Amino acid sequence: MAALLLALMLLLSTAAPLRRNYYAGSACPDAESIVREAVTKKFRQTSVTVGATVHLFFHDCFVEGCDASVIVASTANNTAEKDHPVNLSLAGDGFDTVIRAKAAVDAVPRCRNKVSCADILVMATRDVIALAGGPSYAVELGRLDGLSSTASSVNGKLAPPSFNLDQLTALFATNGLSQTDMIALSAGHTVGFAHCNAFTSRIRGPTPDPTLNSTFAAQLRSWCPPNVDPRIAVTMDVVTPRAFDNQYYKNLQNGMGLLASDQVLHSDPRSRPTVDAWAQSSAAFNKAFVEAITKMGRIGVKTGAQGNIRRNCAVFN
Ligand code: HEM
Repeated sequence: MAALLLALMLLLSTAAPLRRNYYAGSACPDAESIVREAVTKKFRQTSVTVGATVHLFFHDCFVEGCDASVIVASTANNTAEKDHPVNLSLAGDGFDTVIRAKAAVDAVPRCRNKVSCADILVMATRDVIALAGGPSYAVELGRLDGLSSTASSVNGKLAPPSFNLDQLTALFATNGLSQTDMIALSAGHTVGFAHCNAFTSRIRGPTPDPTLNSTFAAQLRSWCPPNVDPRIAVTMDVVTPRAFDNQYYKNLQNGMGLLASDQVLHSDPRSRPTVDAWAQSSAAFNKAFVEAITKMGRIGVKTGAQGNIRRNCAVFN
């Protein structure tokens, strides 16, 4: 009996703190609609918001969990995650989306300091995906904001674009995500941009990538000439760059994956059947994507003394 009770207590203490409609019964029942409105306003100003926000969410979750630690600004005494070289590619519009949504929530007196920056980033990501024509889904909420953010904690946590299937699969596995989840989440690259340096080794140099479509490679060489301005970026899905859709997988079938880590999902016979299935069926892709991004949102969630609700998403309280 005592053993049973202990097991039950353990189960309760490790039970997932996240749930849908978390704010519905709280002091701020309209949190989700307030965020949606602020995100929609930002999206109407610039569609770059979509890729910037989805990218930010991924980089948040893979480093110290989904706790908005990526949003914290560096100080004289601390170089934060956001200033790690790999995070310098995060576009300002993603941070701005969260800051604006937080301001909109906090402008409602009963909501002030009741909604975490980490939850706002989850909601904002869901909202930009829907605004770009992707799947609509309910999000799990109830995360706290993390209490630490250091550039050194980013080392080795994010994949370089040169990773092969085994390396990608292993990295996602350390976050509790399967190879199928990894293939689904890679479709984040159906929107947004990559700078030329992320794929130059594929288009010129001693060994141009044979898996790259030759017409596409020529187009990329003209967009990214030698010594190109490092600020130049190319849309990751050149066919439907603004739509959150399964065109990403169709591009891979045509040798038009922009990064080596995208194209490998089709070149490697172990992941190709999944790519082919999702290129064929947008319903199957949407289902897998929603499952995978929901799982990603559960990585390293902070509760209790592990976190708090930041007053300013960029500054620890
Ligand atoms: C599988 C391993 C991944 C690798 C190697 C990778 C790598 C990259 C690289 C190199 C860029 C270009 C950055 C730049 O030059 O500015 C990029 C952009 C992007 N990534 Fe990934 N990524 C991966 C997974 C993901 C996942 C899981 C998501 C989200 C679900 C995601 C979402 C994005 C988005 C939306 C952009 C465009 C950002 C913008 O337009 O501002 N990536 N990624």
